[in-house]
Amino acid sequence: MKTQAITVDFRNALSKHVGKHGVARDKLFALQPRIDRYHAQLCRERASGKLRFADLPHNREYPRAVSALAKELIPKCRNFVVLGIGGSALGNIAVQTALNSPHYNLLPQSQRKGCPRIFVEDNIDPDRFVALLDMIDLKKTVFNVITKSGQTAETMSQFLIIQDMLKKKLGRSYNKHIVATTDAKGGFLRPIAEAEGYRTLEVPDGVGGRFSVLSPVGLLSAAMAGINIRQLLKGAADMDKRCQTASLKKNPAYLCAALLHQADTRKNLHTVVLMPYCDALKDVSDWFRQLWAESLGKRLGRGGKEVFTGQNPVKALGTTDQHSQVQLYVEGPFDKIIAFLAVDRFARTIKLPKTFSEVEGISYLGGKSLNQLMHAELQGTAIALADAGRPNFTIHLPSVNAHTVGQLIFMFEMQTAMAGKLYGINTFDQPGVEAGKTATYALMGRKGFEKEKRRIAGRIKANHSDRV
Ligand code: PA5
Repeated sequence: MKTQAITVDFRNALSKHVGKHGVARDKLFALQPRIDRYHAQLCRERASGKLRFADLPHNREYPRAVSALAKELIPKCRNFVVLGIGGSALGNIAVQTALNSPHYNLLPQSQRKGCPRIFVEDNIDPDRFVALLDMIDLKKTVFNVITKSGQTAETMSQFLIIQDMLKKKLGRSYNKHIVATTDAKGGFLRPIAEAEGYRTLEVPDGVGGRFSVLSPVGLLSAAMAGINIRQLLKGAADMDKRCQTASLKKNPAYLCAALLHQADTRKNLHTVVLMPYCDALKDVSDWFRQLWAESLGKRLGRGGKEVFTGQNPVKALGTTDQHSQVQLYVEGPFDKIIAFLAVDRFARTIKLPKTFSEVEGISYLGGKSLNQLMHAELQGTAIALADAGRPNFTIHLPSVNAHTVGQLIFMFEMQTAMAGKLYGINTFDQPGVEAGKTATYALMGRKGFEKEKRRIAGRIKANHSDRV
C-alpha cells in the first residue's frame, strides 16, 4: 500500500523558502523533545482507555454490526436520512461527498448499486426540513437519529417530528423506520429506543462527536451508500501505524500539528485555510473546521489558567476560490497559512479539444486535460503564495478512495490530539458549546433552567434599545 500513502510537502511553509513569515526549520524540529514527551503521554492515555477514538480503526465489532444492518436495510429503503448535528453529522457528510458520485442522489437506483439516496439533515431550518419531508415517501425511508447525549435540541426536535409522522402514517410498524445511534447506556434516547423497539447502534463511550466518524456514527450512512467501510478503516489503521512513532520526520500528523502550532503561536498565522483542489474533499474541510475549532479553541489551559488558544480554520476550494479568496491570501494581512489537499491522480481524465488553435488566449489549452489544468492551478497558486511570502503546504493524496480518505481522517484526528498537547489544553471537551446549549434550554422553557431564563431575559431586553 506504500504508493497509496498520503504525504505532506511542507517546503513552502519554511522561512528558508518564504521568508520571515515562514516557520524556521530548526525551530520546528527543535520541538521534537516536547513531541516525544506528548507522544508518550498520548500512548499512556491510549493504553488506559482514554484515547478511544484512536482504537476505532481496529474495532472489529462496529463494522460487522454496521454491515449487517446495512445489508438488511438497503433492499427495503429508497431514502436514508441522518438526523444529527455537529460531530453527529459532519463526518457523515464528508465521507459521502468524498466517496460517492457528486450527483449520487440524482442517479437512478440501479446506478447506485441498489443503495438508497442519502440525506444528512444537520440543521433545523424549517423550510429545508419540510422540503425534504415533502419529497420522500416515508414508507420507503429509514431515519438514522444520531445523538450521543440524546438531548441535543436540534436533533431531538427533528426526531420528535419524524417519530410522530411515522407513527401516524405507519402505525405500530413505524419503529422499523428508525435506527438510533446513541450512547450505549446513558443519555435520553437510549431508553426511548429500547422501549419503542428501534434498531440501535452505539456511539462509543469516551469518543466525542467530532472524533466519531470512524464509529457507527459515520459508518452506517457510508455502508448504506455502498462505501467500502473496511477500506476506510484500513486506511485509518495504516495511518495509525505511521503515527506510532514520535518522529516529526516520519509522522505526518505530528508534523502538521507542530507546523500549525508554530505558525499560530510564533508567526501570528492565526488562520489555517484548508483548500482541497478536488470537489470530493470539500466537505472534509467542513469536518476539519469543527475538529480544529472545537478541540483547540479553549479559554482554560490544563492547569486552569486562562490561555485563550486556537487557530481559526477556514475552508476554501481550488480552483473555485482562486477567483474569490486568493487575492486576500496573496496580498492581505500576514495572518494565514494555507494547507492544500492535492489529488495526484483523479479517477477520470478528460482531454481538452484542440479547437480554436488560432486564438492565442486559449490555444495553449488544446490537447491538455482538465487534470493537468487542475494540477497546474494548484502548483501555480502555491508558488504565487510562496513568492509573496505566504506560508503554505500540501497534503498529497495519491487518489481519492476509501483507503486514502481513511488515512486523511485519522491523520487529522491525531494531528488535533497532538496540537491539543502543544497548546496545553483539553482537546476533548467543549465548554463553550455547552454554554450556548444551556441558554437555548432556558429560552425554550426546559425545567431546571428557570434561573438562566431570567438572566437571559434581562440581557435580551437590555439589548433591544440598541437596535436600528
Ligand atoms: O463534537 C461534539 O461533541 C459536538 O459537535 C456534538 O457532536 C454535537 O453537539 C451533537 O451532540 P450529540 O451527539 O450529543 O447530539
